[in-house]
Amino acid sequence: MAAVYVFDAYGTLFDVHSAVARCRSLLEPRAENLSEIWRTKQLEYTWTRSLMGAYQDFDTLTAQALDFAAARCGGISAEARAKLLEAYKDLSAFADAAPALERLRASGGACVILSNGTPPALARAVAAAGLGAWLDESLSVDPLRLYKTAPQAYELVLRRYRVAPQEVAFQSSNRWDIAGAKKFGFSTNWINRSGAPDEYADLAPDRVLSSLAEL
Ligand code: LAC
Repeated sequence: MAAVYVFDAYGTLFDVHSAVARCRSLLEPRAENLSEIWRTKQLEYTWTRSLMGAYQDFDTLTAQALDFAAARCGGISAEARAKLLEAYKDLSAFADAAPALERLRASGGACVILSNGTPPALARAVAAAGLGAWLDESLSVDPLRLYKTAPQAYELVLRRYRVAPQEVAFQSSNRWDIAGAKKFGFSTNWINRSGAPDEYADLAPDRVLSSLAEL
């Protein structure tokens, strides 16, 4: 059993594609493509801005990434843009999230989010998805003005909980995030719901799970 169970938020507990799914009728036939580009660009901006030392918060990057994705897909209406950004604040949780958190919390471990999201966005997402009862807190990289995979981001957990890295079980569906957490020294569980091929071979996850239910 781990002392602290740490969860990535977007893509791991919250389904980032649920925003587009809710607005599908306004976006067809480009919905899926738009959602993929939106997420890919959002993440790219986190890495480039961390490397450049030109931080902008995750809400800002999410909006900028949507604007790029929309332009790439031929444009969307102002109504669709507003609806998508609103839907992103209240993403659906994956069905396996609440039962897993409930079980781990009952086992005595702390359950914590570590995310690139801003504190207000995380608070709203947790409340909207109904996960608040089983989460001790959400740690945000925002005060660092750096994004994952900067080691300082993972270090937030150790600074808060005063545990050794190997006492932390880190869960993410993002393989790049698992690589960063593994490099930092956490025990890592890659939640590979989609059966994605492996990468970052030198930074292998300790376990590969197909769902949070296997934790
Ligand atoms: C997060 C991003 C990686 O929640 O999805 O930190």
